[in-house]
This record gives sequence, structure tokens and C-alpha cells, in this order.
Amino acid sequence: MSDTFLTINGTRVPARMGETILAAAETAGLRLPKDDPALCAHATPCESCRIRLESGGVAGGDPVGQTVLACRATVAGEATLTAEPFPREVKSAAEVLAWRSLAPGISELIVLVDKPVPYLPGQHVTLGFGKAPLRRFTPTLSLDGLRELDTLHFHIRHRPGGLFGERPEERFRPGTRLKLAGPYGHSHLRQGDGRLVLVSSGTGFSAIWSMAVAARLGQPHRPVHLVASAHDPRDLYMRPAIEWLARQGVEHATLCASGAHPLPPIRHGRAMLHLPVLSPGDSVHVAGHPAMVQAVMQAAARAGAKTYGIPHVPAPAEAGVVERITRYLSSRKPPAPAPEPQPLPANVRQIRPL
Ligand code: FES
Repeated sequence: MSDTFLTINGTRVPARMGETILAAAETAGLRLPKDDPALCAHATPCESCRIRLESGGVAGGDPVGQTVLACRATVAGEATLTAEPFPREVKSAAEVLAWRSLAPGISELIVLVDKPVPYLPGQHVTLGFGKAPLRRFTPTLSLDGLRELDTLHFHIRHRPGGLFGERPEERFRPGTRLKLAGPYGHSHLRQGDGRLVLVSSGTGFSAIWSMAVAARLGQPHRPVHLVASAHDPRDLYMRPAIEWLARQGVEHATLCASGAHPLPPIRHGRAMLHLPVLSPGDSVHVAGHPAMVQAVMQAAARAGAKTYGIPHVPAPAEAGVVERITRYLSSRKPPAPAPEPQPLPANVRQIRPL
């Protein structure tokens, strides 16, 4: 017996007061974007199921502007909601091709996929191996703007408790098989005319970089303003990417570090300090630390801009406080030399972006 009705993408479905929008939609046989429930049980929502509330009311759901999370918002009466179309999930497998060092403690992982995963720039996939729990990672391009056929690139921070651990190159040698599923997430790049404001912290740059390249190649009329941040300036591994964007006509790209005082051209402070003045015509995509993502999304919503977040969910076993203290102490030592650029393995086929 239903208590009320929801209209989702034009379809009227029965709903019970207090159940989630996602549950009501799925009971009625509608598909909405969402992530693996086991991954989204964490305190940091993945943002995959954010949908637009057109009219009526729902309870909770972490509202940002006119949007709510369908897995958290509950039915509070009649409401009309819309979800954008999204690609179907593909379950595949992948093989580790190579690791390349990007910065001390951050590597690029290149995998060869068995089946193509039709992700949109900014969407994520899940990776796992054996019985280890799945984790989310955002596929991206290599930092020189190249893309490879049948391969996916990921930016991996070496973490105790993370899927790949502290020494991933030793544990996941070329040839290691991984489980892969996706794509997920609603925070992908969309077609549009307004300015794109792309903001990252840490390895959130992987999502931002794939959107920046896709925007320059597919929507060259759109101005791009990019802010890439890290706590430690040594983690700003994206300089080749910033140079590529400059060659493509992107004039506004800021690197900033909030920890040790960085040397120019890196600016001091968190990403929030270096945001441009936002306006309703902007689309703001932000990826990285959950607190930074929330702060930027709220600022964008206050300015009337469209906003999409990709929060990085920390590994459950990760000792966050210990890591921050360790990184603060290590940031006071003389900087480690930047890693030597490493060539791609010969079996990676490359094509220039069109
Ligand atoms: S599926 Fe709703 S926030 Fe992750």
C-alpha cells in the first residue's frame, strides 16, 4: 500500500513515507544512478545518486542547490524529480600493465581492460582483487594529454589500509589481474556553454584532468579555470598537465599548497582561497578531500552555479590523523627530488587526442 506518489523522469511511481527515493524508484523498476551500497555505507557519500528535485518536498538527502542524494533523501509527500541519463554498468577485469612514479607516495597505475568501460570524464569505477573489498578510483589520461587504446590510468596514493597498500609496485606487478566494474557517479562533464571551474585536492586531480582534456578537445569554446591543490607542494605532480592545458589556450590554472610555504609559481593556501569569483553561468566540478569538496560545492551553490562533487572516501583502515602528522613532519625536511619521468611500456599503444 503506497502513501503517496513520486514522479521520476516523467514516470509516476507509488512511494511510502520515510523510504528513500532510491528505494521507491527501484521498487517500481526504475534505474537511478548509484554506487555499490557496500562502498556508500561510509560516512562520506559518494555523490553518485544526486538527482534534481523539481517540485514537492523530500526529507534530508544532503541538499545542494536543487539537488539531493536519492539514497539518503526520504519521501515526505508528492515530489517530482529528474535524473540524467547515465551509462550502463560493465563488469570486467583488468591487468596491471605498469606503474609510473608521479610524486613521492603517488603513482600512476596503467591497466589493460578486458572489456571497454564506457565512462564519461569524471565518472569512477571500482577496482578490487581476490577477496579484498572494492574501492573507487577515477580513470584518467596520462599527464601529457595522450590516451591509450584499451587502457585506463589511475592516480594512486600509497596508503596503509588502501587497496594497493604502501608499496603497490612490489605487490601488484605487471600481469596482476584486477576486478573492475563501472562506470558510476553523476559528477561527470556535461555539454554546455558556460565557464568550467575545475578544482582538485591531491589525487582528485585524476577526475579533474580527464574532464579538462575532454573539455578542451570537445568543447573548446568554454573557458576553463583550474585550481589544483595539495597539502605538500611535492604532491603537485600535475605540472606536465598544466603545461598541456596552457598550450591548449587555458589561461587560468593555479597550483596551490596549504602546508609548507611553497615556492612560486605555486601559491600558498587551500583551494578555497584561490577560487575565482563564481557566477550562475559556471559549472563547478570538484574532486578530492571530502571537506574541501563540500566547501567548494556549497560556495558554488550560493553563487547559483551548477556544481558536482567527487569526494575521495578514505580507506576504512587508514589512520588519517597519524598520516597528517607524519606528512606535516616530513614536509619540514628538505624536499625529495622529483621522480625521473619514466617512459611508458612498449606494449602501451598511444594515439594523440583528436
Ligand atoms: S549511492 Fe547515494 S551517495 Fe552513494
